[in-house]
Amino acid sequence: MSTKELEQTAEAMVAEGKGILAIDESFPTIKNRFDDINTESTEASRRAYRDLLITNPGANEYISGIILFDETIRQFTADGTPFSETLIKQGIMPGIKVDTGAKDLAGHPGEKVTEGLDGLRDRLAEYKQLGAKFAKWRAVITIGEGTPSMGCIEANVHALARYAALCQEAGIVPMVEPEVLMDGDHTNELCYDVTEATLKALFNELYKQNVALEHTILKVNMVVSGKGCPTQASVDDVAALTVNCLLNTVPAAIPGIVFLSGGQSAEMATVHLNEMNANYAPLPWPLSFSYGRALQAPCLDAWQGKEENVIKAQAILLHREKCNSQATLGKYSAEDDAA
Ligand code: 13P
Repeated sequence: MSTKELEQTAEAMVAEGKGILAIDESFPTIKNRFDDINTESTEASRRAYRDLLITNPGANEYISGIILFDETIRQFTADGTPFSETLIKQGIMPGIKVDTGAKDLAGHPGEKVTEGLDGLRDRLAEYKQLGAKFAKWRAVITIGEGTPSMGCIEANVHALARYAALCQEAGIVPMVEPEVLMDGDHTNELCYDVTEATLKALFNELYKQNVALEHTILKVNMVVSGKGCPTQASVDDVAALTVNCLLNTVPAAIPGIVFLSGGQSAEMATVHLNEMNANYAPLPWPLSFSYGRALQAPCLDAWQGKEENVIKAQAILLHREKCNSQATLGKYSAEDDAA
């Protein structure tokens, strides 16, 4: 693997007008999503749902990559083609979630550390064989009474940096994802401070672990108010504080920044992204999306676990992908979206 290939992958992930679809829900998370539509989570139902997401005609116009879960990268379409091969044929890059989840951090009540470094070198080699071009590792930072602690931030960014170095060694582009959660009643000013502290610590650690920033994609939360905060920040404020926070913390060498949706509604995640791209260009990096819920929720709702709803669900997904593609260009219109 040449560094040229890593560079091309990273650039392609955030190519103009394109973003990433995250469908890497772990077993407990996909079960929660399926519970909401009264659908049992089985190997067959998960395969059928991911088939719908992966084979959506026309998605390659808006989507550069799809993040898969370990089970999913080993599954096949109805006609027996591996999902990863199906994606590559469409010009969509397969990605893979490689962390093994956020676990309680000892000595830090209410805080988590993401695990998965043990054996990661071997797992990455296998994922590479299975077609993965990029990977994802998500760390969660919780705002609460006396949290986050520096101990939690440091443990998480250390793991992110070790993961990123291993990915680059394996010829896989690391997507590093520190997520400051929306849970809580905090203001978006506090979200700003915590996101800033986390990103400063992250880039310091990436430097210490010799991670090439040119071959790394940042996936991060927007600077939003906590879900329970009585005064929700306006669209203008979210865009202004998010852009300001990123300008203060993210080196220009990073090829692109993608956002997670984190519990925002599908429309708000699009509106916020559009606001940043419409009003703050040019920035040192493209700002795009790597949404899970904000792309999938309306589609999942239309699907309801039923084969006869597949075409309708795919059309709804494609519509959200198109809207977010327009938002990466600052050309989204809420009126057209609703029409
Ligand atoms: P959400 O957009 O649903 O937050 O998920 C994105 C993701 O991949 C979180 O790790």
